[in-house]
This record gives sequence, structure tokens and C-alpha cells, in this order.
Amino acid sequence: MARRITVLGTGYLGATHAACMAELGFEVLGVDVDPGRIEALAAGRLPFYEPGLEPLLARGLRSGRLRFTTSFADAADFGDVHFCCVGTPQRAGSGGADLSQLFSCIDTLAPLLRRPSLIVGKSTVPAGTAAILAERLARLVSPGVTAELAWNPEFLREGHAVADTLRPERIVVGVRSAAAEAVLRDVYAGPLADGVPLVVTDFATAELVKVAANAFLATKISFINAMAEVCEVADADVTMLAQALSYDHRIGGAGMRPGLGFGGGCLPKDIRAFMTRAEELGAGESVSFLRQVDAINIRRRARMVTLAQDLAGGAVDGRQVGVLGLAFKPDSDDIRDSPAIDVATALHGLGARVVAYDPAGTANAQRGHPELEYATSLLGAAADADVLLVLTEWAEFRDADPEVIGKAVAQRAIADGRHALDPAAWRAAGWTYRALGRPAG
Ligand code: UGA
Repeated sequence: MARRITVLGTGYLGATHAACMAELGFEVLGVDVDPGRIEALAAGRLPFYEPGLEPLLARGLRSGRLRFTTSFADAADFGDVHFCCVGTPQRAGSGGADLSQLFSCIDTLAPLLRRPSLIVGKSTVPAGTAAILAERLARLVSPGVTAELAWNPEFLREGHAVADTLRPERIVVGVRSAAAEAVLRDVYAGPLADGVPLVVTDFATAELVKVAANAFLATKISFINAMAEVCEVADADVTMLAQALSYDHRIGGAGMRPGLGFGGGCLPKDIRAFMTRAEELGAGESVSFLRQVDAINIRRRARMVTLAQDLAGGAVDGRQVGVLGLAFKPDSDDIRDSPAIDVATALHGLGARVVAYDPAGTANAQRGHPELEYATSLLGAAADADVLLVLTEWAEFRDADPEVIGKAVAQRAIADGRHALDPAAWRAAGWTYRALGRPAG
């Protein structure tokens, strides 16, 4: 009989994992402590925006293979394999990771287990966490019940979550027994048969693969943005520089787009947690460059504010700024550590009237930032603006007609934080076009 799977924590990662496991043919129970979230998912509604996920959710529910509950007791009864997908956010007042959701997940589930179980951690954690959790699991499980831990980091990107889960670039499993490896080989039999590479390793390496990957991705982005800073003073063009670098296969162009830098619920907090953990382990110096990576990234936001001020004639006080984009990246409604939100709120703080629009992120932004004004369309945000800013590279903004937008604004001045627009087309339509790391033109 096929193994039965539970997914504990149904955020971006967990909801996607649950729907994809059901799609692969498993019986799946999704579990969360938030009844509102469970109610929505059980009714086929995604509590967040993720292209392509809702049809999978609907299919899973219709087939009867995918169900949701708030009960850990039901999860313990139901599952052979329990995937732990809860959040590990940045701890308030420190760079370290807050592991409380993970601990509470294990502490709640372990005493309820009655059948042989494999608990598989997927959350991003500091090296050493899995070993602590394994020890905790062994202590809390009832006598006579076999329960083992494994670590299986997740590499999905928001906006591409379904494809990244069904056809990942690699599967990494940290295990302490051949039995645990066999269970995970079975769970991932589909992708493995399609040729997805599998790395079987120990806990610490599995944990570190994930943070090292995110640290590398963040470094690539900050590298090209550091070059953008140099380009600005040398009167060079960072987009052409990036293109020229990309032809060198050792460098490549993927994940090295210059602009407003990285945000979201992963890269910023993961590099900070990595630095904190490395320092605790006595290897702080080895990753101290990540402090620069973080600093370069944060400087992008300040530079964007300066660019907006320049375009407004020196100061934004009393001027109207149209903000296009609030989500930390396109095809997402996630505004966690969003560079766009930082820029918008900084301009508001400098006295600008900020009118913002995002195709998916507006509701989340409104909840956290009621001080900003929100439009329901691109043209609404552009109406009467003295300066327009592109802060997230949604296709809708890329495809916008500079003539049509030009008729709505008070002044044809635009700063492109994501190199999303064609400068020639906008300049030809009479716009003053500025972008980070490109000559003023
Ligand atoms: C990131 C990683 O890419 C995933 O592999 C990882 O699984 C995930 O974190 C996680 O730890 O859960 P994600 O945060 O969804 O995924 O987004 P990315 O596509 O990596 O983008 C992150 C930020 O970098 C965005 O703000 C984006 O606009 C920015 N970015 C990305 C750039 O500025 N330039 C680029 O070339 C690429």
C-alpha cells in the first residue's frame, strides 16, 4: 500500500508540497494550527497567490487524496511520513532564526505517534537543528513506537513553486539510516525516475546545502548590484555589463539580474541566520562577506529613494509618487521584506503622497501599511503622478504603453528599479527615464 503523507504547516511551502504530493498519487493530509487557513484550503481556496497551484489543489480535493485538518492527533493516526514545513522567521531583535514553530510541531506530534513514522524536516534551519530535533523526538515518542527524523531541504521559488516541487533540480536528503533513505526514495520515486539527481547525506550537510544555496544566490545578486554602483559613478551601463558577463559559462546570467535587490521571506533572513549560526560555531569570519552582501542589498533601496528625489527635482515633499509593484517579486503576493514596500514607505516618510498598485500584493500591503494610498490599476497609480517608479517587474508593467501612461501622469518621469522597461521606447515617448546603474541618458 502506498505510504500516507502528512504535511505540517500549510504556508507557501507546505500547501504546495501537500498539493504536489497528492498530484504524485499519494494520500495526503495537510495540517495547520490556523483554522482559517485550513478552512480555505479545504474549500479549494489558496490563502496566497501562486500561479498554477489552485488547479492542483482542486484536483487533489476532488480525487479525495488531499484533505486538511487542524488536528495533530488525526495526522499522527493517518501518516507514515510527516513533512514538517513550518516557518523559521528571523527572531525579533536578532539575526538568528526563530525555531519555535518547528519545536512545537515536533513536541505536539511526537507523543501522539502510534505507528512507525518518518518525520521529515523541510524548513530552512541553522546547522545542528536536525540533531536537536532528533533527540527531542526520541525523548517524546511513546515507548515501543519507532519514529525517525530525516532532513530534506526545499529549494522552491515563489511564483514557480509547482514546477520546482514536481520537477526539482535536485533532491537532498539527510538521513541516519538506510530505512529512512528507502522511505524517501519511495516518496520521490516519480521525480527520481525522471532523472532528478539525489544527494544522500548527513543532517548537517543537508541543512547547510540549503543555506549555502541561498547565500550564493544572494551573493550573486549583490555582486551585480555592487557593479551597478560602480557603473553609476563610471557612467557605464550595468545591464550591458551583466549581459556580457552572462556569456561566460562559469559566471552565467541566471539569478544575476541587477536592480532593487533581493527581498522576500527567504534570502534576507537566511543570510542573517547563517551569519549568526556560523559565529556561534566559531566560523563567523568564513561568512563575514555576507554582511557586505546584506549591506549592498539594503543600499539599493536607499539609492532608489534618491533617484525618485532627483526625478522630483530634488525633494519629494508634497509631490505625488506613483509606485508600480509592492510584492518582493512578480507572480507573488508576498510582501515580506519587500524592497518595493521599503522604498514606498521611505518616500511617504519624506512627505510624498504615495499611490501604489500591485497586481496581487495590494491586500497584504494595505494590512501592514495603511499610511500609503492604493490604486486598483496601473493607470490609477499613474494618475497625476509627478514621478513613477517601477519596483516589481510584473509583466503588466513591462508591457505598459508609455504613450497611454504618459497621458495619465502630471510629469513624464520614471525610475525603473528592475530594468523592466525599454528605455528607448519610454524616452521616445517623451519620458525622462532613469534606472539604477545606467547612465542618465
Ligand atoms: C529563494 C530561492 O531562490 C529558492 O531556491 C529557495 O527555495 C527560497 O528562496 C527559499 O528559501 O524558500 P524566492 O525567495 O521565492 O526563492 O525568490 P527568488 O526568485 O530567489 O528571488 C528573491 C529576491 O531576489 C526577489 O526579491 C527578486 O526580485 C530578487 N532577485 C532575484 C534579483 O534582484 N535579481 C535576480 O537576478 C534574481
